[in-house]
Amino acid sequence: MSDAALKYDYELEINEDMYNSCYLPYLDQTRSTEIFYGGSSSGKSNFVAQRTIENIMEGGHNYLCCRKMGNSLTKSVFNELTKAIDKLKVGHLFNIVPSQGHITCINGYQILFSGLDDVEKVKSITPKLSVISEIWCEESTELSYTDIKQLRKRLRGLASYDGKTIQKRIILTFNPIYKTHWLFKEYFEKNGWKDDQTEFLDDRLSILKTTHVDNDFLDPEDHILLDEESDEYYYQVYSLGNFGILGDAIFTNWRTEDLSAKKGSFDKIRNGLDFGYSSDPNAYIRMHYDKPGMKIYIFEAWQAKKLTNPMIAEKLKPIISREPIFCDSAEPKSIEELRTDGIDARPVKKGKDSVLHGIKWLNKHEIIIDESLQGVINEFNTYQWKKDKDGNALPIPCGEDHYIDSLRYATEIDHTGFFDELEW
Ligand SMILES: Nc1ncnc2c1ncn2[C@@H]1O[C@H](COP(=O)(O)OP(=O)(O)OP(=O)(O)O)[C@@H](O)[C@H]1O
Ligand SMILES: [Mg+2]
Repeated sequence: MSDAALKYDYELEINEDMYNSCYLPYLDQTRSTEIFYGGSSSGKSNFVAQRTIENIMEGGHNYLCCRKMGNSLTKSVFNELTKAIDKLKVGHLFNIVPSQGHITCINGYQILFSGLDDVEKVKSITPKLSVISEIWCEESTELSYTDIKQLRKRLRGLASYDGKTIQKRIILTFNPIYKTHWLFKEYFEKNGWKDDQTEFLDDRLSILKTTHVDNDFLDPEDHILLDEESDEYYYQVYSLGNFGILGDAIFTNWRTEDLSAKKGSFDKIRNGLDFGYSSDPNAYIRMHYDKPGMKIYIFEAWQAKKLTNPMIAEKLKPIISREPIFCDSAEPKSIEELRTDGIDARPVKKGKDSVLHGIKWLNKHEIIIDESLQGVINEFNTYQWKKDKDGNALPIPCGEDHYIDSLRYATEIDHTGFFDELEW
């Protein structure tokens, strides 16, 4: 397959000083599944990005970089890879085309990008030369088990270069989440992973756990901030890189189900939108409300950062058409802009204690979440009551809550009882 590849006269010298030492063995040690997980700022993304560029330059490798939402991907992984190109001073060997979502080396091998929100797009992605040999999934805890199975199908076909077979692999990078997550069960629990373990290797799988302590390139101030984290869950997950011990879960009245066969019959539709931009994502929830059965079916959801209001409108239109969508009232300008773009966006009312009131109302229902919506499932697992220093639960919710906020907005008309007044 390498015949069409342009041979170019460039020898990349791998300078080990450019890497954190814990990652060095993984420059040539390959497995069909490679996991790099752990605390925040431990150098995971930087390592995989740098190694990706070097692999591409060697020839024979084509990478597909994935995240649940395409939009978040182009910003974060793309930037990580372009930084690595700059650092290695090899910009002249690459054609970087953010608008078309690819980075192409002068030898013809490519890095392609796709969000898993567009399944058809993922299926149709093909590199110029040979086949996709590596798939890198950033923030893999957002992906469902089915997403990974689908991705593995994308690795069909033989990849070889200069008579050598290239080991095809899926590379998963993430911060740990909770131990009932499918990723933990599938890769850690099955292999008898211990809490104090940092590495696992067999013929097909490698796992490396790292924390900020393993990152020699971090500012002292960054180390201090991570060491001083006061929230126990965040400290465990982001400072120590441990799978979090879940506290007092706010929602226990939920389960997952494959809703693909049922969703065609859903007719009491509610839409909710929580606004965000750079640090927080925009989060959209679509659900069916079975009032007599006291059931809430969440069958569609997405989250993305750095979406402008016209971009949100574009994403919503094919899904909701003229249906109303209930939005965070803190952003009247955004609501107005969505309305200008043809979206029936309406502000929620947010009365006194609306968060606790909304939670209480949701807790009276059975909530059924489509099994593909891993991001929603993650929030339901980790949303918990804050604890005081003696470990007593306080009436203060904590944890990621973008989907949950948007669910409260979607159902506000039901728990405030003015639904019947609405005409739609
Ligand atoms: N090899 C390296 N050379 C130079 N700087 C590095 C290197 N590795 C990491 N860094 C620095 O450390 C920072 C954190 O690294 P990185 O973003 O890769 O961590 P991470 O483990 O992916 O963190 P998170 O879990 O928060 O995504 C980077 O922004 C970069 O400044
Ligand atoms: Mg990272």
